[in-house]
Formats: sequence, structure tokens, C-alpha cells
Amino acid sequence: MHSIEFYRNEFISYLTSKTVSKEPLNLYTPITYILGLGGKRLRPTLVLMATEVFGTDYRKALDAALAIEVFHNFSLVHDDIMDDAPLRRGKETVHEKWDINTGILSGDAMLINAYQLFENYDGQMFRNLAQLFSKTAIEVCEGQQYDVDFETRDDVTQLEYLKMIEYKTAVLVAAALKMGAIIAEAPEEQQQSIYDFGRYLGIAFQLQDDYLDAFGDPETFGKQVGGDIIENKKTYLYLKAMELGSDEEKKALSDMFSIHPDDPSGKIEQIKKIFRQTGAAGETTMAIETYTQKAFEVLEKLAVSDEKKGILEKFGKGLMVRRV
Ligand code: IPE
Ligand code: MN
Ligand code: MN
Repeated sequence: MHSIEFYRNEFISYLTSKTVSKEPLNLYTPITYILGLGGKRLRPTLVLMATEVFGTDYRKALDAALAIEVFHNFSLVHDDIMDDAPLRRGKETVHEKWDINTGILSGDAMLINAYQLFENYDGQMFRNLAQLFSKTAIEVCEGQQYDVDFETRDDVTQLEYLKMIEYKTAVLVAAALKMGAIIAEAPEEQQQSIYDFGRYLGIAFQLQDDYLDAFGDPETFGKQVGGDIIENKKTYLYLKAMELGSDEEKKALSDMFSIHPDDPSGKIEQIKKIFRQTGAAGETTMAIETYTQKAFEVLEKLAVSDEKKGILEKFGKGLMVRRV
């Protein structure tokens, strides 16, 4: 096997070779824009890595990796509209740079493009990949709807939150890995194990995302810091603070999480203070470690060499210390 960096770079070369701007420019330019903004390329890298973990040449997986990355970016374009987010990867979001209709239609085209890429696989493999992709994509929609629904609910439980992030985020990470296993024609139970590894890793990833949304460095984070607080997102930080806070802290939190002030800076600072002083921030860091550990336990079940497990573990550890 090669290094994580190798797979990422191979993917980026492939992506670059496949992104061409064409007419109508107002449909395709936003697509090249968002795909060209960079990002961590985690999901496509995982597709390539999983393929080689199960002993097949990563080049066979490039189209599946591209499909996953295009789908992911489509979901971000629409998510940024839904979350009213001004920034993505340190640059203007598509709907800010163009407008909402452009974001909707360019996003739609990306989703269709992602499906088309599976047409490069034959027979049963095409069927298996498309089936997993459709199941995953619909779960992402379900997760996104729960996320929106939770903004206006004040009785969201930690269990509901975990289900929501599993759907909106973790299943795609899991599917990326399973696609590699499908392309390598690994046995079913191995496909399931690597899926579960990705699912736990994806949950840890989203917990970290929620943590960084509040406590990330605005210089490097690439998104608007405090975006979740502005949108009254019921993240793990919020739910833990509601569990651990004093009556006074809980009242302040729930009051502030029902309003949308014109200038949110005071609200953001007060909420972050409560997240810290209730211990919710520390609990979130611990939950990130717990879910990463769960992922590593599943990894043990994979019938592959320790060297290969080591590379996947390194990938997981890298996610835990990320700042973007
Ligand atoms: C996005 O979740 C999930 C999908 C795009 C499906 P978030 O809204 O929490 O992610 P960021 O913080 O905007 O990246
Ligand atoms: Mn968002
Ligand atoms: Mn969102």
C-alpha cells in the first residue's frame, strides 16, 4: 500500500483532469469553483485506500472516489443555502458568490453527475455501488431534515442528535470505505466491518466539526465560526451543556437558542462561555476520542495485514487532531 498523501494526490490529479468548464457557464462554473476550492478530500481518499486495503489497484476506484467527492460537494452547496452560510473553505459559498437558484441547479447537476460516474462499472459491481450510493444519499437527506427540524425543537435528546449526525455525515464516510471493499470484491462481512469503522469515524468527525464550529480558529477554520450557534443548532455541545449546566445556565442557553439577533457576536461569546464552564466542551472532546476508539476496535476485525490497519488508524488519528 501507498501513503495517505499518495492516494489524496492521485485523487486530486484525477479530479483536475475530469473538471472541465463548459456551456452553459452559469451551470458549470459554480461546480468547478466549489470542486476547486480544495478541502480535505477525505472521502475519496478513503475510497482509494479501502480498495487497496482489500488488495485491488486503487485506479479501479477513481470514478467511485470522484462520485463520492462530487456528491459530498453537492451536499455542501445545498447545505450552505439551508444553513445560510457565507463561507466555505475560506471562500464565499456558491449561493453568496452567485445566487440561491444557481446553488440549487448547479447542486442538482452535481448529484446527477455523481450517479453517472457509476456507469463506468459493469454488471453486478455497478448495481452494488449504485444501491449503496442511493441508500446513503437518501439517509443524508433524512439527516439534513432532522438537523433542520432540531433548530426549532427544545427537547432534542443526545440519542436523536447522534442518529442525526450518523445520517447527515457518518454514512457517507462509511459508504466511501465500503465502496472500496465492493470494488475489491471483499467478502460481505469485511464490507460490513469497514463500513462500521467508517460510521464510527464519521460520528467522531462530525462531533469534531461541531466542536470546531464553536472553538475553531477563524483564521484557519474556513467556515464562519459560531455558525451553529447563530442557527440554533442543537449540537453535542449544546445538549451536554443542557445536561450539565446549572438552572441559570440552562435557562440562559435555551433562551438564547430561540432567538436570531441581528448582531450575533454577544450571543456567540456568552454561549461559548457556557459551553466551557459547564464542562460541555471537555465532554465533547472526550466523545470524539470515544467514537474514534470504537472505530479502532472495529478495525481489529478486518482480515488484513497490520500494516494496512496501521494506515487506516493513522487516518483516524489525523482526523482527531484536525483544525479545519
Ligand atoms: C453538513 O453538516 C452535512 C451535509 C452537507 C450533508 P453541517 O452543516 O454541520 O456541516 P458544515 O459545518 O456546514 O460543514
Ligand atoms: Mn452547514
Ligand atoms: Mn447543515
